Parts: sequence; C-alpha cells; structure tokens
Amino acid sequence: MIATGNANVKTEQVTTDPVISAAPVLVTGAAGYIGSILVRRLLNRGYHVRVLDRLMYGDDAIRDILSHPRLEMVVADFRDRMVVARAVQGVSSVIHLGAIVGDPACAIDEDFTIGTNFEATRVIADAARRAGVGRFVFGSTCSVYGASAETLDETSALNPVSLYANTKIAAERALLDMADADFAPVIMRFATAYGHSYRPRYDLAVNVMTAKAVTDGQITIHGGDQWRPFVHVDDIARALVLALEAPIETVAGETFNVGSDEQNHQLKEVGEIIQRLIPHAAVLTNDLVTDKRNYFVQFTKIRETLGFTPLHTLAESIVEMKEALDTGEVRDYQDRRYNNYQFLTQIVREVARQRRPLVTIPIAITSTMEQLMSAACDD
Ligand SMILES: NC(=O)c1ccc[n+]([C@@H]2O[C@H](COP(=O)([O-])OP(=O)(O)OC[C@H]3O[C@@H](n4cnc5c(N)ncnc54)[C@H](O)[C@@H]3O)[C@@H](O)[C@H]2O)c1
Repeated sequence: MIATGNANVKTEQVTTDPVISAAPVLVTGAAGYIGSILVRRLLNRGYHVRVLDRLMYGDDAIRDILSHPRLEMVVADFRDRMVVARAVQGVSSVIHLGAIVGDPACAIDEDFTIGTNFEATRVIADAARRAGVGRFVFGSTCSVYGASAETLDETSALNPVSLYANTKIAAERALLDMADADFAPVIMRFATAYGHSYRPRYDLAVNVMTAKAVTDGQITIHGGDQWRPFVHVDDIARALVLALEAPIETVAGETFNVGSDEQNHQLKEVGEIIQRLIPHAAVLTNDLVTDKRNYFVQFTKIRETLGFTPLHTLAESIVEMKEALDTGEVRDYQDRRYNNYQFLTQIVREVARQRRPLVTIPIAITSTMEQLMSAACDD
C-alpha cells in the first residue's frame, strides 16, 4: 500500500477485484493535481501505470513513487507525435488528464492552449486507436456548460464562456467522432475540484478562498449568486477508476458529469461555510462579477450508471486545508507553483526574454524553470 501522505485519500472496502491486465494504463498529466492522486489509487489497486507528463510544475507530486516497480515514467511533451506513438505501445487503456487547466492559464497563449488541449488530444487518441487501445478516458470539465439558468445534464446545450471550455468541447467531439466497435472514448466532465493534493492548487475557488480566510483573515466574493458544482479531487480519482473498470459497453461513447447534486453551491454559500469553519475571517462581497460561469449540474447518470457518490464533503475538506495551512505543511499558498496562471505567466515572460515562441519551451523541468520557481517564492 502506498502511503497517502498529506492528501486526504479515503480508503474503501474493495468489494470486487478488477481484472487487472499486466499491460499498463497510460496516464497523461499524472504529476498534476488530480493525476497524482489517481496514479496512487491505480497502483494501490494493482495496476501497472505508465505516466506521460512534461512536469510543467515540477515532479514534487510523484517523486516518492517514481521507483515503484509498477510505474514507468515518460518525461516528455505529448504534443510530440513520436513521443505519443511510443507511449501508447502496449497499454491497455488511456486516461488523458494532461492539459493547460483553467480559464486564466488558457488565455495566456491561444495557440499553446489549442495545441495542448485540443490538437494533442486528437493525436493521442488516434495513436491509441492505431495501437489497439480500447478504452480512452478523457478529463473534461463542467465548464463546458458555461453560463445557464437551467439545471444541466449531459444532454444539455453547451454555452462555453472561455477558450479553456471551447478546447475541451472540441476535444470531446473529436474523441466521440473516433468511436467505433474497437475504440471507446469515455468523457468525464469534472465539477470544479477542491481539496488538498500531492500537487496543491490554490487557484481553485474553494481552495483559494480557504487559504485567504486562514492566512489573510479576509475573503472577497465577486458576485456570489453564481451556481457552481464542486467535487473533491480524490472523488474525481475514484470516478476515473470506475470509468476504467466498468464494463466497456456501459461507458463506450458516453459522457458523465462527475460530482453530486448536493455539492452544487452558490459562491456566497461557500463563503458562508468558510466563515462558519474559520470564524476569524471576514467575508466581503463585491458586485463586480469577474467569473461569468454560472451552472447548476445534475449528476444522476454517474450515480445510476457507475454507482458513484462522493465520499468527501466541502466542510471536511476546508478543515483539512485549514490544518495544512495552520501547521505550515503548505507554507505559502501564494507560491506560483500552486497557481497555473501565475506559473505560466512567469514562463511566458522568461521565453519572451529569450525571444522564443512558447510552443518551444523545453519538455522537462530545466534549471531555468527551477530558478523561476525559487524566484517565485521570493515575493
Ligand atoms: N482541477 C479541476 O478543478 C478540474 C476541473 C475540471 C476538469 N479538470 C481537468 O482535469 C485534468 C487535470 O487537471 P489538474 O487540475 O490535475 O491539472 P494540473 O494543472 O494540476 O496538471 C496538469 C498536468 O498536465 C501536464 N501537462 C500539461 N501539458 C502537457 C504536455 N504538453 N505534455 C505532457 N504533460 C503535460 C502538466 O505537466 C501537469 O502535470 C485536466 O484535463 C483538466 O482540464 C480539472
């Protein structure tokens, strides 16, 4: 059993043993916020895992499992077709999580975002299909619903309000177009994640609000009436395992919202929960709505088809993050490594100084990036 360290990973009674093939599962983006929890879940279930990640944010989240006998690490950029062609050889399934993640980070450089989130997804899926891989589980987002006054299910109209959501929609469509008797894409639209992970992210609504409440004693909510579905990062990893292990005919070509009806909240409700749990914090509201997303999502399909219900709650996770901040386990939530937009902005500045296009930034963590990260800790 792999130690779960600082991330709150629930242990469950395993009632049925999955039929685990000796062929590895390929997980892209495995060093990220969700992937670093997923990979540990897969290893603990007995899977062989091949990781493909360029380690954009470093390898902290997976360093302690790199020597695991059932883990293979490919440090490379999945926009490179040769890399992808090799990485898919001999794998049983693919779970594709790697992406530029979040509206602000995706807005930094359009070409870079489209190349990573859309074009590379198509290339990886095509290579997987040619290599005879049957199941391709894709990490999409409930952001595809954008702004809507309706209750939304998987058949609802999409109304994206960002490049991020548009690239995910384009990737979903490309994957579903490839579906045939031998190739089964499975689209998993995650609610907004929260909670502590091996790669902490303090650019997600609940996480950053909690960190500000604990550290700064004050949070400001912009608007507050916007509805948003939330789900714990470890529950996303559990849902991905269910998608991997379900009978292929149950999930082939299907789209699932990942979350629960009970965890749809207005942002002002999140503020109220945080204030109840962190009473010294002041919760202010500002009428300026900077984030136009507003969506209330239904999760009946994943509950009824895959038997998925979350094990974690918002309140429990806020307390857990408060402890991590109070004890100094997370020293500085404003460290750029925990914020995709700030981290990538720093890289863009660096490559601009070197007069190189962003698409050519090196594939593994370099000493320049390492310096950037430590510089980022200084202010
Ligand atoms: N976190 C959320 O709230 C959330 C919500 C909905 C959907 N999602 C989706 O889940 C997936 C994982 O999100 P996350 O929060 O773990 O992201 P993250 O930013 O923490 O991690 C992304 C990982 O992808 C890797 N990566 C990016 N581009 C790559 C490339 N070209 N080649 C190789 N590796 C590359 C990065 O190095 C990083 O390790 C994404 O597809 C995201 O769109 C996340």
